[in-house]
Amino acid sequence: MSLFNKLFHSNKLEQPVDMSMISTDMHSHLIPGIDDGSKSIEESLELVKALYNIGYRKLVTTPHIYTEIFKNTPDIILQGLEKLKVALHEANIPVKIEAAAEYMYDDTLTKKFKAGELLSFGKKYVLIELSSFITPVNLFQLLFDMKIDGYLPILAHPERYAYWHDDFENYINLKDREILFQVNLPSLSGYYSPQVRMMAEKLIENNMVEFVGTDIHNMEYFEQIEKSRYSKYLEKLINSGNLLNPTL
Ligand SMILES: [Fe+2]
Repeated sequence: MSLFNKLFHSNKLEQPVDMSMISTDMHSHLIPGIDDGSKSIEESLELVKALYNIGYRKLVTTPHIYTEIFKNTPDIILQGLEKLKVALHEANIPVKIEAAAEYMYDDTLTKKFKAGELLSFGKKYVLIELSSFITPVNLFQLLFDMKIDGYLPILAHPERYAYWHDDFENYINLKDREILFQVNLPSLSGYYSPQVRMMAEKLIENNMVEFVGTDIHNMEYFEQIEKSRYSKYLEKLINSGNLLNPTL
């Protein structure tokens, strides 16, 4: 390592992480036109191709289901998936693709769960995000009920909930209840804020992370994913033995 690197880039790897070690992504917005992710089939193909080229071989894409903003249903998502599969086949991009959803935690999530309408993946994993601004209420009850029913809840990007940043106990309480954590790659590049990056690193440091996701919406995210490949914490996460992405 050069002296310059030692002095100024001690937290950066010299070579990017080989993403085929992760192999499967389980958080993205690749179905065009149904949320704030890809806007067209052409954009979806560009994003998938970019992920394929850095080593991903399987994608579980997760459009938002957020009643107030993105009123998606399993039917809408699965129809979109079929169209994307056809386009990927025609474009000769040999990636496996499935769909689930990124569920916003709100009243309607409890209703959907009770109605048996949840889209899950792998071992009945369900990806759940929280509001960015409002501390969740009664979250533990729903997570408990879901686990009793055989679901394995994954909390999407726990590092991004600023209202928890000053009290790490919030994270410990969730891990005590065996809730799985998924960190975003763009968090590791500092895309959202230095605080989000530090929390992502702290969660990895404390062996509290089981999944890593791209959360890719557009090519701006891909640029951040490329930067995150130089994170020593990403390497540490892959070497931790905790990462479940390759099992999907
Ligand atoms: Fe997302």
